Amino acid sequence: MKTITVLSRKGGSGKTTLAVNLTLTAFLRGRKVVLADIDPQRSASDALRARREPGPVLAEVTAGKLFMTKSNAMRDGVDYLVIDTPAMPEADVAQAVNIADLCLVAGRPSFLDLAPIVRSAEAVRRLGKDGMVVLNQAHTSRSDVAPAAFPEILEALRFCGLPLAPHGLRAREAFQTAMAHGLCVAELEPGGPAARDLQRLWAHVEARLDGLDEKPMRTALTA
Ligand SMILES: Nc1ncnc2c1ncn2[C@@H]1O[C@H](COP(=O)(O)OP(=O)(O)O)[C@@H](O)[C@H]1O
Ligand SMILES: [Mg+2]
Repeated sequence: MKTITVLSRKGGSGKTTLAVNLTLTAFLRGRKVVLADIDPQRSASDALRARREPGPVLAEVTAGKLFMTKSNAMRDGVDYLVIDTPAMPEADVAQAVNIADLCLVAGRPSFLDLAPIVRSAEAVRRLGKDGMVVLNQAHTSRSDVAPAAFPEILEALRFCGLPLAPHGLRAREAFQTAMAHGLCVAELEPGGPAARDLQRLWAHVEARLDGLDEKPMRTALTA
């Protein structure tokens, strides 16, 4: 089982949108997925509850229950545990980062999102975790979000210590409409541009998680 934690110190950066859409993408591909919502606002839970179709398992929990949630998911043969986090408190987010295999730092490619992205990336690195920055809500007509973002923002992100995902999500109404019905954008507009962005991102996330398996195991001797 692989655990993916979506985080950002800034509200409205797209954590829930990313977490729900990635969860549903994996689910629609036949994987067994649990979405753990540790944000007291319960936005991810609201979205999945609005879903009429069969869907992934939802765990509305506190950060303190994450370890048990993960153990149960492993016991139940779950493929992916996706964790949606609140912007704060830091201690709760740290618990979610600690149990993750891969952390996704969500942020808009805008000046005001830079500092929160950098601080979230630092928190991931401090805890010795793998992660990447995923740009969301970019206003661009280009197919790749990252290269089309402002050059100075990309330059600043080079020093945040985490790699930038080669694919992000552009600002698309489909993400908002789909969320209101608990749908993945790929269900709302199959083959549409939002679905395409999401598929590319998921393919990269999956490949990155598979790559983590290839790393040599750290033993007491090499640690
Ligand atoms: N790629 C996107 N395109 C359009 N709207 C988006 C996109 N990502 C997020 N939003 C909208 O922005 C708002 C904040 O997103 P949300 O995922 O709730 O952020 P967070 O969980 O970080 O607070 C929501 O209204 C959501 O529908
Ligand atoms: Mg949220």
